[in-house]
Amino acid sequence: MLGLAVLAVVFTASLADDSYVIVAPTKLRAGMHFSISVNILNATGDVTLTASVMRTDDRSTVASSTATLTMGDPKTVDIQIPADLTYGRYELHVAGAGGLTFTNHTSVKFSNRSLSVFLQTDKAIYVPGQKVNFRALAVYPDLQVYTGPMNVTIRDPNNNMIKQWLGVTGEEGVFTKFLNLSSRPVEGDWKIKAVAGNSVGEKTFTVEEYVPPKFEVKVIPPSYVLESDTTIPVTVTAKYTYGKPVTGPVTVEAKMPDYSYTGHVSHKAQLNNQGRAQLTFPMTEFRSLYGALAPHAITFTANVTESLTGITLIGSGTVKVYTEPVKVEFLPSNPKNFKPGLDYIGYVKISQPDGLPVPTSADENVTVHTTVQSSAVTCDLQYTFINIDLDPMSIPLPIDGLVTVHQLGIPSNTTSMTMFVSGDFSTLTV
Ligand SMILES: *[C@@H]1O[C@H](CO)[C@@H](O)[C@H](O)[C@H]1NC(C)=O
Ligand SMILES: *[C@@H]1O[C@H](CO)[C@@H](O)[C@H](O)[C@H]1NC(C)=O
Ligand SMILES: *[C@@H]1O[C@H](CO)[C@@H](O)[C@H](O)[C@H]1NC(C)=O
Ligand SMILES: *[C@@H]1O[C@H](CO)[C@@H](O)[C@H](O)[C@H]1NC(C)=O
Ligand SMILES: *[C@@H]1O[C@H](CO)[C@@H](O)[C@H](O)[C@H]1NC(C)=O
Ligand SMILES: *[C@@H]1O[C@H](CO)[C@@H](O)[C@H](O)[C@H]1NC(C)=O
Ligand SMILES: *[C@@H]1O[C@H](CO)[C@@H](O)[C@H](O)[C@H]1NC(C)=O
Ligand SMILES: *[C@@H]1O[C@H](CO)[C@@H](O)[C@H](O)[C@H]1NC(C)=O
Repeated sequence: MLGLAVLAVVFTASLADDSYVIVAPTKLRAGMHFSISVNILNATGDVTLTASVMRTDDRSTVASSTATLTMGDPKTVDIQIPADLTYGRYELHVAGAGGLTFTNHTSVKFSNRSLSVFLQTDKAIYVPGQKVNFRALAVYPDLQVYTGPMNVTIRDPNNNMIKQWLGVTGEEGVFTKFLNLSSRPVEGDWKIKAVAGNSVGEKTFTVEEYVPPKFEVKVIPPSYVLESDTTIPVTVTAKYTYGKPVTGPVTVEAKMPDYSYTGHVSHKAQLNNQGRAQLTFPMTEFRSLYGALAPHAITFTANVTESLTGITLIGSGTVKVYTEPVKVEFLPSNPKNFKPGLDYIGYVKISQPDGLPVPTSADENVTVHTTVQSSAVTCDLQYTFINIDLDPMSIPLPIDGLVTVHQLGIPSNTTSMTMFVSGDFSTLTV
């Protein structure tokens, strides 16, 4: 709703004798409701009161009003002063007739100090088809409300007049109206203008197609989770495209898509003023739903509700659960064949499940065990296989985890070869 508070301060003069009291403003303004309050104290019947504002110089009547009053029942009598009243000397004349006969008068000062015109809309931004509620009022410098006529116009961004109200006066001086925007209004800044006396007030409002504020939700789980972990820390961040953080509540749902069971684990948090929330998912919650977790993935889906608009956006992140903390792989680029009797050179990559090097201390070694197999045809025409373990090689583990295996002396009768890598990485054994 529109909120509006105007404090009116009116200086008054009184006209009275034993049988009546009349209180009237001491100032007169163009366009104002000149309101006098009348109380008949002693009369023989109803009193007809005529109240007139006259120009002192030529005694012409500018505006007047009549009312019937009953003894002991005070009343307000309004005299509508013309909006085009010009500077001069003026008087208020009152006359009673009927149950009480009296006349009296007092001078009133003309005040031509300018009005301030105010316009209010219920919102700053509207979407097509919405209703623009507005109101207009004008006040004098002493905050007394102007009650004369106003001209109000609404123009679109192309300066086309969309609607106008001429010579309107509102209740208690406040003109309250609305404009229904069409389903396809001109987008941009619209203008409401109100003219009261010589004063003009303007108010701009914006009409635009609804564009949801763009922001991005990111869910950052750890790069891998081990079956032996007790908790999974998950970070959620939300930022507007222009960089400002989003604050508001966030709900993170975690599921294991590999399992047909649709249950999920859910946690709530609040994004802090950096647009960040840290959540902790205990592994026990997943185990009670799914049992063993490795080698499956957990998907975390966060929905962030922006406080201002209530708009919800979603982001997600996935992490895989591993049993072993170290991954050993023969690079796919390794030669697939070896040449009996010659050396074999290949590469073994030792890494964490996420592909990053394992934390290693200076002199850690991996051991490469090579078994060669040779085949022979026996007397009864059966194949027999003879396996021979070559001497194990101890190779220092480089920081990047890429181990060069240079196997010398492969027997010339070898038909197949198996390599096996073992190591002791920061007390973890593979
Ligand atoms: C007019 O009002 C004044 C102020 O109350 C009072 O003193 C005076 O007697 C009144 N005049 C007449 C003619 O009643
Ligand atoms: C009302 O006026 C009459 C006649 O002027 C007078 O006799 C009477 O006392 C007045 N009453 C009051 C309450 O003043
Ligand atoms: C009021 O009117 C008088 C006479 O026309 C002029 O001298 C004066 O400047 C006006 N004051 C204002 C505030 O407009
Ligand atoms: C304006 O829209 C309201 C609904 O929001 C409708 O009830 C009303 O009749 C419309 N008035 C005009 C003048 O179109
Ligand atoms: C309002 O508009 C009418 C018609 O255009 C004009 O005669 C009048 O002077 C205007 N009133 C004000 C206060 O501007
Ligand atoms: C956001 O998450 C809550 C809780 O899981 C859910 O009730 C709500 O429907 C979600 N909202 C959206 C838009 O996905
Ligand atoms: C690694 O091997 C080197 C020799 O190749 C040896 O000196 C060193 O002690 C070994 N380190 C460990 C931790 O076994
Ligand atoms: C292959 O050669 C090794 C010695 O280099 C020998 O021990 C082995 O028996 C041979 N394999 C066959 C099938 O003859």
